Amino acid sequence: MEVLEVIKGRRSIRAFRSKPISFESVKKLLDAARWAPSAGNIQPWEFIIVRKPEIKKKLAEAALHQYFIEEAPVVIVVCADEGRSSQGYGIRGKTLYCLQDTAAAIQNIHLVAYSLGLGTCWVGAFREEEVRKILQIPGGIRPVAIIPIGHPAENPKPRQRRSIHEIVHYETF
Ligand SMILES: Cc1cc2nc3c(=O)[nH]c(=O)nc-3n(C[C@H](O)[C@H](O)[C@H](O)COP(=O)(O)O)c2cc1C
Repeated sequence: MEVLEVIKGRRSIRAFRSKPISFESVKKLLDAARWAPSAGNIQPWEFIIVRKPEIKKKLAEAALHQYFIEEAPVVIVVCADEGRSSQGYGIRGKTLYCLQDTAAAIQNIHLVAYSLGLGTCWVGAFREEEVRKILQIPGGIRPVAIIPIGHPAENPKPRQRRSIHEIVHYETF
């Protein structure tokens, strides 16, 4: 598939079939994630793979009861290591690069998943402290996104995008 075809074809998927996802597929997603660009090549990302139903259920609850999370056979929780980024770039590293880098890795996961025929959704609405507790995430590491991954059980229509005309400025803002 062409890159643009993948970018435009991907949809957020919020319904999954129970068909399992192999570790090989998960590895492809993680490999794509680690090839994302990062400030100073610091690579501040960490990934937690969750398959246990009881943990997925707790994550769904922490994500403001988004129960489609527990339907997915695999969930990847992507975290950002603030300490790693701040060592290189101080406060800008901690508050900006760390999240930008991790977001790039997250997007790679979504795009490669789609190219493999898998569905994903970027879940950012969750109670951070609760997720930290469920997954025993140490201080200084921020959970950034919960990504349920599975074979899609829906085929949603594309959501509308703001036009180029609306978002682009030339020379100055
Ligand atoms: C930072 C971020 C947080 C998001 N959080 C949620 C979420 O908590 N639950 C959800 O169902 N979708 C969430 N989404 C998905 C968006 O709703 C979705 O990307 C958007 O509506 C566009 O639809 P599309 O992904 O199908 O193109 C999130 C997306 C981003 C980038």
